[in-house]
Amino acid sequence: MILILDFGSQYTQLIARRVRESKVYCEIVPFNTPLEKIRELNPKGIILSGGPASVYRENAPQVKDELFDFPVPFLGICYGMGLINRAGGGEVAQAQQREYGLADLVIKDNSDLFYGFARDNGVRVWMSHGDHMTSLPQGWSVLAESTNSPIAAFSNPERRLFGVQFHPEVTHTPRGKEALDNFLFRICKCEPTWTMAHFIETSVDAIRSRVGENRVLCALSGGVDSSVAATLVHRAIGDRLICIFVNNGLLRQGEADDVCQLGSRFGQGFRYVDASRRFVSALKGVEDPEQKRRIIGHLFIEVFEEESNKLGEVPFLTQGTLYPDVIESVSSVGPSATIKTHHNVGGLPERMKLKIIEPLRELFKDEVRRLGHELGLPPEMILRQPFPGPGLAVRILGEVTEERLGVLRNADAIVMHEIRAAGFHDKVWQSFAVLLPTRTVGVMGDERTYENVIALRVVDSQDGMTADWVPLSAELLGRISNRIINEVRGVGRVVFDISSKPPATIEWE
Ligand code: XMP
Repeated sequence: MILILDFGSQYTQLIARRVRESKVYCEIVPFNTPLEKIRELNPKGIILSGGPASVYRENAPQVKDELFDFPVPFLGICYGMGLINRAGGGEVAQAQQREYGLADLVIKDNSDLFYGFARDNGVRVWMSHGDHMTSLPQGWSVLAESTNSPIAAFSNPERRLFGVQFHPEVTHTPRGKEALDNFLFRICKCEPTWTMAHFIETSVDAIRSRVGENRVLCALSGGVDSSVAATLVHRAIGDRLICIFVNNGLLRQGEADDVCQLGSRFGQGFRYVDASRRFVSALKGVEDPEQKRRIIGHLFIEVFEEESNKLGEVPFLTQGTLYPDVIESVSSVGPSATIKTHHNVGGLPERMKLKIIEPLRELFKDEVRRLGHELGLPPEMILRQPFPGPGLAVRILGEVTEERLGVLRNADAIVMHEIRAAGFHDKVWQSFAVLLPTRTVGVMGDERTYENVIALRVVDSQDGMTADWVPLSAELLGRISNRIINEVRGVGRVVFDISSKPPATIEWE
């Protein structure tokens, strides 16, 4: 495996993805991970990420010099490059001119990191730095230069230390992957063995040996993560996996049926609980978004516990936690976590004293989709858009009632149908309707109407942390609006949400 030390670059996760795309397993750890821990992980190479700080500033994240005694090759990217250089005795200073965006890199040495690149030829790379290397330690060599960085890449050939000023991990560096692959395969001598089939095999073995003869619970929601996690655990232990699907009555049209159909894959282990009435009545009169979330969260745990109490002793719970959640909790980024309470089933394992199995905690979302595909889940399932745990309750501003749920569900079904028909469903992060807590005047026939407003939200995002609205064509917007106003009783106006996140959030509540 390859270890990536994170110095806070926005691209750190991209480095990990590129490495894994090359079928080499890697993990991201904070820059200050103790050496013993690194030794235990036993990496074949270490990559130091970029970061927003300057290495020569006070309080800039540093590593101990002993780190570089660890006998594997190192690759420093941007900030990481500066650290390696300084540790060897070289100098880093603020550049006269910041280099940001595309630059031409001229390769001077193509023996290892740039193997396969032509010497003295320009290649396009993406730069984003304000500092540069002003000198290198004795015996180190310059591998490449750019207009603003005479030392744009270097190596210490003896100790196998490498540094690059540009970002090989971003797609704007077209041949970046080749340089990374040279580091992985030529320099670190990794083998490209980390495939999905391999992942399934080792996960299944690990789950079997951890679970033994016991049973495992799963709160199946129909979302990609819980569905893939359940399918993987089912592959390992068959019907000893008990999937409980709680219908909270806050789902989209047709969704409960879809989840039941998925559940039928789990044979005897699937249990359906229709608690719609309980949820809707618990939400009666509640308008505050956080209170809605709390009520839904607590009631979910209550219903889930009631159902699992009927089963006797089940010591494990499987959850679809993904790698970004795990990394986030290490370096405590993730601003949205504090803005809204997102943890739908938080507290469940503690309360029921369940041991957690998180078979996806090493994977990124796109890897989970590939895994789902490999496990034979249908594409509709794998390509589902994210849907919040509290469901339509956070898309109905104000009180949630059966009647208002009906209005939103019908409008939302039209949105989804048209978005799918226009080929947008799999291209956007989320698309949905929101029911606003206000009435608006209109005319239908010769009569004055006073009806609801539906907002349409369609956003693009990589991870839900930031997002932008998608400029749908006027024709598509017109069709969605016409259909909603004509077909959904109680709606008199449709508006399109053109706010980005931040400062807005994706959901309206
Ligand atoms: P926001 O609205 O914070 O949403 O921009 C970011 C992403 O998270 C989803 N979301 C939730 N997911 N429980 C969830 O499981 C929640 O309470 C919740 N609230 C928002 C949202 O759909 C978007 O993808």
